[in-house]
Amino acid sequence: MTDARRFYARWARLYDALARLPGVRSWRAAAVNALALSPGDAVVEMGCGTGANLPHARRAVRPEGRVIGLDATRAMLERARGRGDADLLQADAVRPPIAVPVDGLLATFVAGMFADPAAVVDRWCDLVRPGGRAAFLHFAPSDRAWARPPNAAYRAFVWLSSTDKQRPGEVATGHQRRVDAAHDRLRERAVDYRERRLAGGYLRLASGRIE
Ligand SMILES: C[S@@+](CC[C@H](N)C(=O)[O-])C[C@H]1O[C@@H](n2cnc3c(N)ncnc32)[C@H](O)[C@@H]1O
Repeated sequence: MTDARRFYARWARLYDALARLPGVRSWRAAAVNALALSPGDAVVEMGCGTGANLPHARRAVRPEGRVIGLDATRAMLERARGRGDADLLQADAVRPPIAVPVDGLLATFVAGMFADPAAVVDRWCDLVRPGGRAAFLHFAPSDRAWARPPNAAYRAFVWLSSTDKQRPGEVATGHQRRVDAAHDRLRERAVDYRERRLAGGYLRLASGRIE
C-alpha cells in the first residue's frame, strides 16, 4: 500500500465528513454540471474517495444512466457504498480497468497525486467517447495576503497525505505543478477547454469536450 493510500485508509471517516460539508456541495455540483451529462449517460469518477460527487452524477444521468466510482483505497470506497447508486471499483486510476467508452469523466482533488499526471490524463481522455466531456476540480492557492490561512491549510493537507518528507511548502509546490500538468494536458486534448474559479478563487474547475 502506498503512503497516500495508507493516509486515506486511516482518515477515511474524517475525510468523508469534510468532503460532504454543506459549503462543498455546490462545488461538487458545479464539477458534475461541467460534464453536461444527459439521462442515460455513463459517467466515471477517478479517485472518487468517499463518493461525495456520486449523488450529483446520479441526478444528472437519472436512474437509467450508469455511475462508476473508482478508487484505490478500500476504506474510502466503503464509505462511498450506496451513494449515487454507483458501481464501485477498487482499482488504480493510473491504469483504470474501464473497457466501455464513457460520456463523462470526473476527477476532483486527485490529479496532483500522480507522478506523471499528463500520461494519466491521456489515458483518461482515451476512455471518453468522441463528444463526451472530462472535468477536473482542484485547489488553487492564491498569492494574496488574505489567502495565507487557506494556503497553509492546503500545504498541511498535501504534506500529511504525501510520501514526501520535504518541507510542506515544497511538497505543495510539487503537488501544484502536477495539477498544472493535468490541466494543461486536458487543455491539449479538449476542443473547448474552459477553466473557471470557484470558492473565491480557491478552486480551479476545468472541463472540455474530447473528440
Ligand atoms: C483528496 S481524495 C479526493 C476524493 C474525492 N475525489 C473527493 O473529491 O472528495 C484523493 C483520493 O484519491 C485516491 N487515490 C489516490 N491515488 C489513487 C490511485 N492511484 N488510483 C485510484 N485512486 C487513488 C485516494 O484513495 C483518495 O480517495
